[in-house]
Amino acid sequence: MTEFKKSRWANAEFTQEYRDNADIYIVERRRLLEIMKSFYRHFVMDSGHKSALDLGCGDGIITHELLTVDASISATLIDGSGDMLNNAKERLRGFKDIHFIKASFQEILEKDILHGNFDFAVSSLAIHHLTMNGKRELFEKIYSHLQPGGYFMNIDVILAPTDTLEQWYMKLWREWMDERKTALGIERNVFSDIVRRYKEYDENKPDTLGDQLRALKDTGFEDVDCFYKYGIFAVYGGRKQEERNA
Ligand SMILES: C[S@@+](CC[C@H](N)C(=O)[O-])C[C@H]1O[C@@H](n2cnc3c(N)ncnc32)[C@H](O)[C@@H]1O
Repeated sequence: MTEFKKSRWANAEFTQEYRDNADIYIVERRRLLEIMKSFYRHFVMDSGHKSALDLGCGDGIITHELLTVDASISATLIDGSGDMLNNAKERLRGFKDIHFIKASFQEILEKDILHGNFDFAVSSLAIHHLTMNGKRELFEKIYSHLQPGGYFMNIDVILAPTDTLEQWYMKLWREWMDERKTALGIERNVFSDIVRRYKEYDENKPDTLGDQLRALKDTGFEDVDCFYKYGIFAVYGGRKQEERNA
């Protein structure tokens, strides 16, 4: 069985639960999406036609948000879950030039699945399922499929650099969920085990922000930085070097 098939993301009930409750689980989800769109408008969008790659696309929310900014984007969405891809297809029905690929990150690394180069590669809450070596390899793969000057952004959970900080970040996460539940009139004890489950499941392999930023720089990315952070939720990325004349 492949690594992806062993994970909870291969289970349709689990993916449904995520889709139903992601706005509660994901800290400042709306803010994260607004930052991603601002980044795209500022760095990527111009009068030309742009192509985007959405890695671990889930139900297509990231591409859908990008299309509200630039409806002419041609997008490639990849996910290991057929159920998630079906939901993405449904969400993006009506948009042209949208391509779907069912593949795990492991398959992307092992086979020749990605074709062409992209202006913007983005991923949200998926790359933390890879080990640090896997992340490094995926960053290299992404780099090799970006146009010169193209951008990569990852919205993801990260590992705190110390246990002391980790403990507070987990509390901060619980406080966020409590705030959302109060706003939505949901009882406090609902979803109370999310943090424990996140820590317990070994399919979650977060690494520190420092290690991931370093890996991006080592890959060759420029303008590497963390663009936003709230406890374990972070947005970071960089730009592929422009081609230089010899
Ligand atoms: C937390 S969801 C995020 C979905 C979407 N990007 C979002 O922001 O809502 C994680 C997604 O990553 C996908 N995923 C998890 N592990 C993966 C892997 N090894 N290869 C490809 N996709 C994976 C899951 O199927 C799921 O759709």
